Amino acid sequence: MATNTNGSGSGIRELAGKRALVTGGSRGIGAAVVRQLLDAGAEVLTTARSATNTVPDGAAFVEADVRTRAGAQALAEAAEKQLGGVDVLVHNAGGAGPHEGALAIPDEQWQDALDLNLLASVRLDALLAPGMRERRSGVIVHVSSAAVPTVAPPFLHYTAAKAALDNYSRGLALELAPFGIRVNTVSPGRTATPGGEATREQWAEVSARMGAEPGPTSADDTAPLGRDGRPDDIADAVLFLMSDRASWLTGSNLVVDGGEFPRG
Ligand SMILES: NC(=O)c1ccc[n+]([C@@H]2O[C@H](COP(=O)([O-])OP(=O)(O)OC[C@H]3O[C@@H](n4cnc5c(N)ncnc54)[C@H](OP(=O)(O)O)[C@@H]3O)[C@@H](O)[C@H]2O)c1
Repeated sequence: MATNTNGSGSGIRELAGKRALVTGGSRGIGAAVVRQLLDAGAEVLTTARSATNTVPDGAAFVEADVRTRAGAQALAEAAEKQLGGVDVLVHNAGGAGPHEGALAIPDEQWQDALDLNLLASVRLDALLAPGMRERRSGVIVHVSSAAVPTVAPPFLHYTAAKAALDNYSRGLALELAPFGIRVNTVSPGRTATPGGEATREQWAEVSARMGAEPGPTSADDTAPLGRDGRPDDIADAVLFLMSDRASWLTGSNLVVDGGEFPRG
């Protein structure tokens, strides 16, 4: 019987037989999701821009850049070839570099943030959800951010793209619900990953240069629960939404942030 790598798993292989695609599974939150999906019995394909030896053992890997239409197409083709279809789809790859001020964000930087944090999901869903619709079953999770309500430079392009992702995810959930497909969002708070640490360092550095207050995810900020998130905290939420325990959940946004951004 399998146990999850974080030691908290039930040992039930509740996703046995499921074919899963996870973007950005070579480190951080994505790698934890891949590990937990494998522990739950799923067959997993993951992707990143560069091949590394940090992809969890047991997962298939294909190199692709999800920011481009060609990358999404190549990934969908690899999923068809290697898995024969996708039952569970986790859009995890995301992030952005900082900008100086809201009015000084170059077009290319806006486009990059939108491509990675919104359009990558839109394009991949358009390629893979039709197969789910034919089979009248499937689960999609979009990884957004608990920082969306902060709307503060130097990551305004990122939070705007994630806000659009939240909105799109809810609309897609309504459209696909009649076909038995569930679509939900997981919004992590500050989580200890390579990408998260780099973002917080950049946030502090650019805020200092701009003379702005450090953002709510700055290095000295602590969530009410007293620690940063672990990648497995976020993966736990993703796996719950993938499982039949969430069979009556669609169009929801599960905020996993140690209480940093309380919502009503
Ligand atoms: N960590 C946090 O504090 C935090 C907070 C809120 C939201 N989030 C969200 O959670 C998700 C995961 O974040 P993380 O902190 O785990 O990030 P991370 O440590 O930077 O890992 C990102 C993963 O995505 C891959 N990736 C990045 N760009 C890609 C692209 N264009 N095409 C394909 N793969 C790509 C990376 O590999 P390559 O670089 O090799 O491509 C890596 O495997 C993101 O959507 C992020 O916005 C994180």
